[in-house]
Amino acid sequence: MNVVYTETSQILATRLARALTLPLVDMKYSRFPDGELYLMAGETGDETVIVGSVVDNNALVQLLLLIDTCEGSRNHLVLPYMAYARQDKQFKPGEPLSARAVARAIGRGVETIYTVNIHEPEILKYFPAPAQNLSLAPDIGAYIRTLDLDNPLILAPDEGALAFAGQVASAGGWEFDHLEKTRLSGTEVRMAPRQLSAAGRQVIIVDDIISTGGTIVTAAGMLYQQGATDIYAACVHGVLTGGAYARLMATGIRDVICSDTIERACSKVSAADRIAGAIRNR
Ligand code: R5P
Repeated sequence: MNVVYTETSQILATRLARALTLPLVDMKYSRFPDGELYLMAGETGDETVIVGSVVDNNALVQLLLLIDTCEGSRNHLVLPYMAYARQDKQFKPGEPLSARAVARAIGRGVETIYTVNIHEPEILKYFPAPAQNLSLAPDIGAYIRTLDLDNPLILAPDEGALAFAGQVASAGGWEFDHLEKTRLSGTEVRMAPRQLSAAGRQVIIVDDIISTGGTIVTAAGMLYQQGATDIYAACVHGVLTGGAYARLMATGIRDVICSDTIERACSKVSAADRIAGAIRNR
């Protein structure tokens, strides 16, 4: 079995290959003058692990080309991050179910699929091959333990992320809660933990994705007003679009923690061991 990878997932693929003691295939990527993508893979062999986060449209096309290159092998697709997963419903008539479109396109030609904290697990049913979703909540919890914080409070930005916050919190037996929005007036909204108080506490706001950072920036501002002593932001997928990292740090957030499902300077948690474990146990 050999490991191949798109440009967006070269670090995670290297870590995964090491964890599984598998060879990494030599890959070459380039662009034609009109912007079309080109790639060439070395010898892929008869069974491959294909690692490719879909972070944007180019990454999607590169992954499609790579899967095509591997035709004829038994292919296992590792999809650490799946863009378009947030359009998991037709919210308005005339809209596509984008998550389904992407799942159908990239799920062809592979035997098994591994996703990591996919935005909505219901999406797995759209893949034309068996798909397993892995969670990095314990790994994020383990990283938080290394920060040696004093009785931290783990907060989800909304009720939908509460289960994830609970899984992170169980790594240290910490308290967890979710933020609740209360409309104070036509223009004023208050965000505060539903049951617990942030006063005097070190707080970690955890979510699956940080995209613009808007949710956490708003929450952090209010939690500092409520007396939180330090605030950290942690997520699995650091999309960090439009200057989100700088905006978060400018709010006074102590640190931004994400994983290498999207490779960033703040990717402090690796998905490699968790994915390797799932591939070993397949
Ligand atoms: C939304 O459903 C996700 O779970 C995140 O809460 C969202 O993507 C965060 O977005 P932003 O960083 O732009 O506030």
